[in-house]
Amino acid sequence: MTTTIRDWVGFWDNPHSIYVNARHADVHYRDIADAIAGYVPGPQARVLDFGCGEALHADTVAKVARRVVLSDAAPNVRKNLAARFSAVPNIAVASPEELTAYPAGSFELIVANSVVQYLGRADLDGLLAQWRRLLTADGVLIVADVIPPDVGAVSDLFALLRYAYANGFLLAALVGVARTALSSYSKLRQKLGIAKYTEAEFRDILSRAGFSAERLAENMEHNPARISFRARRTAA
Ligand SMILES: C[S@@+](CC[C@H](N)C(=O)[O-])C[C@H]1O[C@@H](n2cnc3c(N)ncnc32)[C@H](O)[C@@H]1O
Repeated sequence: MTTTIRDWVGFWDNPHSIYVNARHADVHYRDIADAIAGYVPGPQARVLDFGCGEALHADTVAKVARRVVLSDAAPNVRKNLAARFSAVPNIAVASPEELTAYPAGSFELIVANSVVQYLGRADLDGLLAQWRRLLTADGVLIVADVIPPDVGAVSDLFALLRYAYANGFLLAALVGVARTALSSYSKLRQKLGIAKYTEAEFRDILSRAGFSAERLAENMEHNPARISFRARRTAA
């Protein structure tokens, strides 16, 4: 039976070929985990990885933090995460709805990498309010892989090919790119679109949501044309 994909969460909840092979998924999630671990302020820190996807190497983050909560809207992704990390005592899996019951100030670090492009504006504002509530007063929010309006498929293609070449999966990437072009991802991207923001627009959104922000020198992910922010709560 063919599953009809109606929205982005449905896309991520079903089998897809965004990661062109197992090696790609492995190095991607290894690099993301290393980057998140680099933002952990100390061994007592509680970390929320929001829209975490398969988070294959979240145990790397768990080694340098007190507690890691992995949250994703896709139920099948959460099921995989719960099975993968059942033996790691300081990793928990939560749905976005479950996070609403967490007390204020539950996290020193919240990271959302490559998520905001899949959110409508109202959902983004709602999540920023929730992240602000969940952060401690001196906590840090990293919003990464934000796509500026002038960055399109060609930039993504070259970034992927460079990343694949550097990590030994170039051939698979070339095949994967063709597959993705014909896949439900492309159709959904045409149908639903993807949210894009200039640096100034995203700074303004963060500011209105009660954050002061700086742009990081480098994007957290492999496409240097996308942008990442480090934000802190401004006084209420
Ligand atoms: C491109 S993947 C990024 C995964 C991971 N953060 C990474 O860096 O590889 C986007 C993820 O965001 C999740 N997502 C999309 N919309 C969401 C929402 N409203 N709430 C929570 N997760 C969401 C999807 O299910 C998917 O796993």
